[in-house]
Amino acid sequence: MAKIAIYPGSFDPITNWHLDIIKRIKFLFGRIVIAVNDNPLGHFFFTASERVVMIRVVLSDFPVIEVESFRGLLVRYAEKKRARFIVRGLRALSDFEHEFQMDLMNRKLSPQIETVYLMTRQSYSYLSSSIIKEIIELGGDTPSLIPDLVKKKLQEKFNQ
Ligand code: PNS
Repeated sequence: MAKIAIYPGSFDPITNWHLDIIKRIKFLFGRIVIAVNDNPLGHFFFTASERVVMIRVVLSDFPVIEVESFRGLLVRYAEKKRARFIVRGLRALSDFEHEFQMDLMNRKLSPQIETVYLMTRQSYSYLSSSIIKEIIELGGDTPSLIPDLVKKKLQEKFNQ
């Protein structure tokens, strides 16, 4: 049976740090589903469908990877997809506490699902969707940090 993994996140928007994780896990699992958080409690800059479309376009070279949005608990979504694994990336030390808490809670909610962690590449260790939004809003440049399409979509949104 194919090993199915969910790579969840806000992806608001997707950055090269997320893409690097996706490229690395594609060799580890038989099937990967990128799950875009669309819970009403999250205050997102892009709508869920905008985020899904952006990811699909930047991943058009990897058509085997599914991308969809989800609402509700991540573990329930993973169960629905018959995924045994959740993938998360780790950057700075500050990610650890939040990831640890989520891991313990997800394990409590669904003990059979295992979360696996990939350490960031050094070049992306300081990268986040929030910092990218701030830089683009203030007219700065983000060389090699986000796909061109994402940069264009951010500029369009800030100029609306
Ligand atoms: O990219 P992010 O914002 O760090 O991703 C966080 C995400 C989407 C993985 C997390 O917020 C999540 O799983 N949300 C779904 C709701 C849920 O299951 N909450 C309980 C997790 S302990």
